[in-house]
Amino acid sequence: DYRGIIFDLDGVIVDTAKFHFLAWRKLANDLGFDISLDQNEQLKGVSRVHSLEQILQWGGKTVSEADFERLMVSKNEDYLARISHMSEDDLLPGVKEVLDFLTENDIPFSLGSASKNARPILKSLKIYDRFTAIVDGNDVQKAKPDPEVFLIASEKLQMKPSDCIVFEDSVAGVQAAKRANMISIGIGEEEVLGEADHIFPDFTQIQIEFIKKIVTK
Ligand code: G6P
Ligand code: MG
Repeated sequence: DYRGIIFDLDGVIVDTAKFHFLAWRKLANDLGFDISLDQNEQLKGVSRVHSLEQILQWGGKTVSEADFERLMVSKNEDYLARISHMSEDDLLPGVKEVLDFLTENDIPFSLGSASKNARPILKSLKIYDRFTAIVDGNDVQKAKPDPEVFLIASEKLQMKPSDCIVFEDSVAGVQAAKRANMISIGIGEEEVLGEADHIFPDFTQIQIEFIKKIVTK
């Protein structure tokens, strides 16, 4: 028997995390302040609304509801422009090999992302049809670190939460996986993702043997 796998999107499957950062940074700069890479770690995995609330708080800004809406729209337009040329070449190194292994062995996998742009991004990457289930920012009420997104994914995979393995690049996402009682694999830096059960700098550092072992019950 196999466990199920849940992949975060931004920063795990595709290197969009840097474009989210650039778009948020431009928004902050336009409002007259800056955000740092350290601050950005706290934005990873966090929904668009909560990210904007956090950024405005850092900048000491309060805005009207209408302006808040406008900022959300312009950030997303800026972000989408930055990723408009995405293709299958933009899969992060090593990801394709892992997905191929899972597909060849009929191991089910789901997306578990906070992004409302996840579906079109998966289509641009030409991997949309390969997921057993897709759960994204359009499907949840509560944002990571709440476990909702991963719990819905485990239901769709028809797996117990404790039989799911989550790949995450964000602090909020690792926390969500823990709260869901799932195995967490951090993709990124040890100092940032220390809470994860396993940590790798990127997918090229994960041996297929490791995947085989961890998915087998
Ligand atoms: C992911 C990213 C965040 C992003 C959030 C919402 O969790 O890590 O940086 O803000 O999704 O994405 P969206 O594409 O809906 O703005
Ligand atoms: Mg992420």
